[in-house]
Amino acid sequence: MGPTAGSEANFLTAQAQELRLSATLEINELVRKQLDMGKPVVHLGFGEATFPIPKSVRAAHEEASGNTSYLPVAGLWKLRESVARFQTRRLGFTVGPEQVVIAPGSKPLLFALFDILSGDVLLPRPSWVSYEPQVKHAGKQLFWVETDEEDRHTITGPSLNSAYDQAISEGSDPRIMLINSPSNPTGQAFSEPTLETITSFCKEKKITLISDEIYSDICYAENYSTTSCTEDNFNAGQMVLTGGLSKTYSAGGWRVGFAIFPPNTFGTTLQKAILAYASECWSAASAPAQEAAAVAFDTTPEMDAYRSQLTHLHKHCTLKLYEALKNCGLAVAAPKGAFYLYPSFYPYSKQLESLGIYTSRQLSRWLIEECGVAALPGSVFGEDDEGVRGGRYRLRMATSYLYFKDQEERYTRGYELLSQALDGGANATIELPLLEKAIVAIENTVAKLNNM
Ligand SMILES: Cc1ncc(COP(=O)(O)O)c(C=O)c1O
Repeated sequence: MGPTAGSEANFLTAQAQELRLSATLEINELVRKQLDMGKPVVHLGFGEATFPIPKSVRAAHEEASGNTSYLPVAGLWKLRESVARFQTRRLGFTVGPEQVVIAPGSKPLLFALFDILSGDVLLPRPSWVSYEPQVKHAGKQLFWVETDEEDRHTITGPSLNSAYDQAISEGSDPRIMLINSPSNPTGQAFSEPTLETITSFCKEKKITLISDEIYSDICYAENYSTTSCTEDNFNAGQMVLTGGLSKTYSAGGWRVGFAIFPPNTFGTTLQKAILAYASECWSAASAPAQEAAAVAFDTTPEMDAYRSQLTHLHKHCTLKLYEALKNCGLAVAAPKGAFYLYPSFYPYSKQLESLGIYTSRQLSRWLIEECGVAALPGSVFGEDDEGVRGGRYRLRMATSYLYFKDQEERYTRGYELLSQALDGGANATIELPLLEKAIVAIENTVAKLNNM
């Protein structure tokens, strides 16, 4: 057997030795094992959107399949224009196509940003699984900004200052912060005052703010914002906005993401650096996917209708699961966007401890193996098992796999399901058998705990 990990793998760099396969893949493996043993599992572990792609977007992809050329590093001009048009309308100030950079997903853009920006990083706890490894791989130090105990999302001035002061006291140089709203894993969005607190803090401390807005089309709570970018703070500040095709259009596998840079010296300098980086790393995103994305991001009535249909469905399904979790006595905040819930099982601490379950990872494994429910442990999002009250029993549940039983049903039933959502009040006609199954599985889990 060859060397695989740790000090044995001395042909790898120290940073590469720390890399692990993503927790999402690990949970898929566990689910597969259960299914192979004939045990049913409700899969709430994977955050991959599954709606059918709009027909015109698919047609554009098919039509462009003969285009096998490398496209410009910054992306297809017509796609950059489409992103700029959409974001201008959404943000309420002009974004020019020259400010937009396209890449094979927003993940490599985030990786590149952490790699080329100098300084250490502040991240809200909890945060999406990939940021922490990306930061560490870039050789940077990470400092968690603590969030509200109830929603695990809201950030305050004192929590920002405390993370910053800790970094300074350890001799670090915090110069980057990333926020994600609506958030994976919490399904929460920031209020306007919270965004104002964060942007003012970053401005005062001269910290570059990366705003990951990949879920921004899927926000359904009133008075919550999906952007930290106002005309003044974006155009005159040190900010970058990222987003992509994966979540709204259920097209993660096509790999199209974008970054928008401010039209100032900071923005143009950073954009130049990222284009140089991209030219040596991924060259360009796939040509057919970029052609299709130009149609998807546009502000046509067809695409507007699609975005509002799927937001309605995500709201319907995620709120229903939320109600069920709450009725089961779990500690969970009402979701505001994306397709995630982030409950804590801490009200059942006594029963869990008697089962020898002390961490979110142990809880996640028990749920899969004994209750047929797959959800990701909070610890993979940076949650501290020794930390705040609910932390060690937090799980992230994704509702994105609750619509169709397989790829075929996605296309045979998917368009009809989306059109049912057109008439926003007709919740009663939306039938989601997998959601019903998930609710029953969770009720059974809690009944098991209650009967102990
Ligand atoms: C919070 C967040 N940011 C970024 C991404 C990356 O998406 P992509 O690389 O497909 O654009 C994801 C995907 O799961 C995500 O959840």
